[in-house]
Amino acid sequence: MRFDGMVAVVTGAGSGIGEATARVLAGDGASVAVLDINTEQARLVAESLPGSARPVVANVADSAAVDRAFAEVEAELGPVDILVNNAGIPGRSLTERITPRVEAQMAEAATGHITTPLESTVSITDAEWAEMLHVHLFGTFYCTRAALRSMTPRQRGAIVNIASICGVEGCTGFPHYSAAKGGILSFTRAVAKEVILQGVRVNAVAAGYVDTPMAETMTPAMRAALAVQTPLGRMARAGEIAATAAFLASEDASFFVGATLTPSGGLVTV
Ligand SMILES: NC(=O)c1ccc[n+]([C@@H]2O[C@H](COP(=O)([O-])OP(=O)(O)OC[C@H]3O[C@@H](n4cnc5c(N)ncnc54)[C@H](O)[C@@H]3O)[C@@H](O)[C@H]2O)c1
Repeated sequence: MRFDGMVAVVTGAGSGIGEATARVLAGDGASVAVLDINTEQARLVAESLPGSARPVVANVADSAAVDRAFAEVEAELGPVDILVNNAGIPGRSLTERITPRVEAQMAEAATGHITTPLESTVSITDAEWAEMLHVHLFGTFYCTRAALRSMTPRQRGAIVNIASICGVEGCTGFPHYSAAKGGILSFTRAVAKEVILQGVRVNAVAAGYVDTPMAETMTPAMRAALAVQTPLGRMARAGEIAATAAFLASEDASFFVGATLTPSGGLVTV
């Protein structure tokens, strides 16, 4: 099996893409630390995985908590070989605020003339901006730093950062999410070029729209519109993104360094 004897940390593994990734890695032989801020979800997923999976509760936006979590994983499972930085939030308060305006724009689009402004960027509070950046970008940094401390001395490791096509293209109405994901992609490239000489590969997945609990922050009409915009005509299943993450974590991807793969059903083709 591809990950026999390896220890993997998957953040945000209590749900969606993270859970699916944890399943692929554990099914392929890895001992998986199911790291999540949600205690119950982490426990449920860890209990359902094969091998010696463990739940680990931590907020990735808290650097001290991240360091404690990695110490716990190393004590219980051994040094970390694979890190998947996946934990994320959709920015629920902003989504709820702009939903009526998005739906107004969708109705206007049918007439060929959109006049309703989204008023998204001007309405984002300092707290909303900070939380988005802290969970996604700071969290990815904190976990990467903690993992590298044990990976580089051992000259081995693979890190996969789950970004989004919003980080490539910019998603209308979600500037904080787009900025966080774009930052993750630049961070991926810079760190990858630095640590490849120390045996650690770092790559990213810029996923299109995926049918997970995160997507349920949008109304059914908004989700249907995203599916229609996607050339493949539907949102991704979490397992389709997990397969990409597992590929990048595996030796099959040995020549991928700082790359961004875009499983997006044709929305983004580079
Ligand atoms: N769903 C999509 O359409 C989509 C598209 C592209 C990228 N992504 C990205 O994929 C990743 C996973 O998203 P998902 O759709 O599976 O969402 P999800 O809501 O199903 O799962 C996210 C998980 O992250 C956990 N989490 C949230 N904040 C955390 C924190 N501070 N510390 C630790 N854990 C935390 C949650 O408890 C949850 O279990 C996210 O980074 C998201 O931005 C999602």
